[in-house]
Parts: sequence; C-alpha cells; structure tokens
Amino acid sequence: MQRSDFPKDFRWGCSTSSYQIEGGIHEGGRSESIWDRFANTPGCVKEGHTGEVACDHYHRWPEDFDIAKQLGVNAYRFSIAWPRIFDYSKSSSPNVAGLDFYDRLVDGMLARGLEPWATLYHWDLPQHLQDQGGWANRTTVEAFVNYTDAITRRLGDRIQHWITHNEPWCTAFLGNKEGCHAPGLKDFKVALQVSHHLLLSHGLAIPVIRQNSPNAKVGAALSLHPLSPASASAEDLAATLRHDGLRNRWFLDPLYGRGYPQDIVKVLGNLAPTVLEGDLKAIAEPTDFLGVNYYFPEIVAHAPGQGVMQLTVVEPEHVERTGFNWQVAPDGLVRLLSRVVKDYAPAHIFITENGSTYDDVVLADGSIHDSQRTSFLQRHLAAVLETVKSDLPVRGYFAWSLLDNFEWAEGYLKRFGLTHVDFQTQKRRLKASGEWYRDFLQGK
Ligand code: FCB
Repeated sequence: MQRSDFPKDFRWGCSTSSYQIEGGIHEGGRSESIWDRFANTPGCVKEGHTGEVACDHYHRWPEDFDIAKQLGVNAYRFSIAWPRIFDYSKSSSPNVAGLDFYDRLVDGMLARGLEPWATLYHWDLPQHLQDQGGWANRTTVEAFVNYTDAITRRLGDRIQHWITHNEPWCTAFLGNKEGCHAPGLKDFKVALQVSHHLLLSHGLAIPVIRQNSPNAKVGAALSLHPLSPASASAEDLAATLRHDGLRNRWFLDPLYGRGYPQDIVKVLGNLAPTVLEGDLKAIAEPTDFLGVNYYFPEIVAHAPGQGVMQLTVVEPEHVERTGFNWQVAPDGLVRLLSRVVKDYAPAHIFITENGSTYDDVVLADGSIHDSQRTSFLQRHLAAVLETVKSDLPVRGYFAWSLLDNFEWAEGYLKRFGLTHVDFQTQKRRLKASGEWYRDFLQGK
C-alpha cells in the first residue's frame, strides 16, 4: 500500500481537541469549562489529572504545527474552546483575546500548509451554561448558534471545513447518562434531551456557517460502531437492532431527514425527548460531508432487566485489543462505511478520527517502538483503501492523535499520539508509528 494508491486530493490529517491539548486554562480571558469542573471533582478522572497544562499547546503550538508539517499531513483537525470565546459571567460579547488566539493558530496552520478543519464543539462547554442546565436547556442551542456566529465571522475567510459537533453520542450519554464524562450526570431522560439539543444546534448552526464562510464545507463527526448479535437468536438480533438504534441511527436518521427512529422512540416511552415543531426539519439541514470517528465494533446480546434497552455489550475472548481493551477490527471499518453509504448516501465521508492506545516505552536513546500502533494504523489505512477502491465516497483520513494528550476520564494514562509527550518536561518525540506515517505520506 502506498499513498499513490489513494486519490490525489485525498485529505491526510491528524486530529486533536482543545481541552485535551491546550492547557493555558487561565489565560487569554478563558472562562471555566465543564471539564475543568469535572476534572477537579475528586474521583472523576484517574489520578486526579486535569487539563490545566495538558500539552501546553496554548504556548507550544508553533512546535506542534512544525511536527505536523514534518509528518507531511495536508490537513489538521482541531477544536475551538467555547470558553475562550465567551465568558458569560462577564459579558455577552465575544472575548477578543480568545478570537485572537485562534486567529493566530489558523494562520500558523496555513503558513505550514496545514488545511484547518475546525470542530466547534469537542465537549468543553462553558460551565456558566451548565449551571443553567447545559445542553438539556434549549437556550444552550441558541448560545451555540451565537458562538458559531462569532467564531465563523472571525475565521470563516480562512477555514473552509467546519465540524459542528464531535461525537454527540458521547456528549449526551457518557456525560449525562453514564456520568463518566463531564458534566457527570446519570439521568437517561436528560441525556436524551441533550442529544436532541445537540442535533438541533448542529442544524441551526449550518446556515450561520454558510453565511459567514461562503465556501465552507460543513458536517458533523459521529462515533459510529458496526454491530453484530452475540448469537443468531431472535432476541439477540432484536437487541442488536435496538443498540444500533441508539448508538448509530439516533443521530444518523434525523441528520438525513428521517426523524428519530420510531422503534427506539417506542422503547424509550416517556424518556423520549421533547421535540418542537420545525426541529426535525432544522436538524436535517443538508451537510457536505459526514465525519466518521471509528474505533471498535460491538457484539450485542439481549439482557432482560438491563435497563430500558434490555441489552448488554458482550466482550469476546481471544480477540486482539488495544490498551483501552477496545477490539482491533479494521474490517469493521469497511462494514461500517458500506452500511452508512447504503443507508444514508452521504456525499462525502471523512474518517475524522481513528487511532489506538498502547503502553508506550521510551528507550534510553529516546526512541519509542510502538509497533502495535503502527500495525493498527497500517491495517486501518488498508481498510480505508478497500472502501475507496469499492467506490465509497471516502475522501480523507485523520489519525487520532497528533500528540499524546488528556484522555478524558483516563487522564494522561492512555496515550494515543503519533508523537510522545513527556508531561513532566513537555518534550515531544515522534514515535515509530509517526515515522511510519511520515514515510508513507512521503511515498517512501
Ligand atoms: C474519541 C474522542 C477523542 C479521543 C478518542 C480516543 O471518542 O472524540 O477526543 O478521546 O476518542
């Protein structure tokens, strides 16, 4: 497999997100985010880690973009920290220092030939909005649209690729049902209302983006999973369909104009979200691409008594796994993309995230031989190539992640970077996987 096997205009990138790398949480007039609050709540994040310093990207971004340039990627996906753009406790106007920061960042990307792909929401909600109910409160939708307006007015001339939300499933359910992500709530009904408001804010933000950034391509990035039943029994098949209904279809169906899947609405009963007239039409606002974040497949079994959904995810034995215990299944990506194209026919698909964590060892000479990550990357790129060859409209691949970073509830214990970060010294070292990606991209 070589780079030249892929289309010429294929986007080759890597991804990051604001809270996971920036640090500088008290600088440039940034306000508190729900992740600051959550990480500082004892017991929420492993080892009590927080994003206070993270990769110190707020100060070290020139070095980080130099690394990306050396990798040879032509696109860079990052996210904007909403709390840098608004401090609602002080003012309803955007914070100029925050806008200036991203202005410099984008110019820094462009100067190095990195096409900026901006995500507007990668989980760091201003705490001030959470204090008023967060995404469960419909006024947050309006606030998101205003924030989108402020940022796209300032950067819409230089950013041509906008992603509204990153993995709304995670925001809604990890944050508000499981409680293992910020804001740490455990309320299924709230989580479902949150999911609706996330989708609505996506739809309502699109015309604003198009207005301020006339040539822009817009989409959302979903975490999608190929699913299979634990057995051929009718119960397991039905459970798999239910799981698919909440994990995949709950977001894909309304985005592609079908409203919420009725089989799931029925299962949810009075937990289903309040949907006002016009909401579904707004959510179905046409997009230019679908961002797919792919990590692992799931096997599903019927489980009577297991909550409203009555199902469980089964972990098979003897399968290859990453350091997160996630199954390694490049073929799952082919299965997933084929299904998405068959059922929803998005114009273009970009793999906006894909990557792996392993226990990296830094040798005495500073090298990191992360052969498992290299193999993961190679096999997933081969899967992407297979989809391209079968004419699926896959137009780019963004590796997660450029740098080791703050891995949410796992703190700094899980490393996904192509570049190793020593969090004591902030020294960056390209791992062997990063060297492989670089050589691949340079056609070596
Ligand atoms: C995804 C998130 C991303 C990162 C990877 C490992 O769910 O979007 O921020 O944490 O997982």
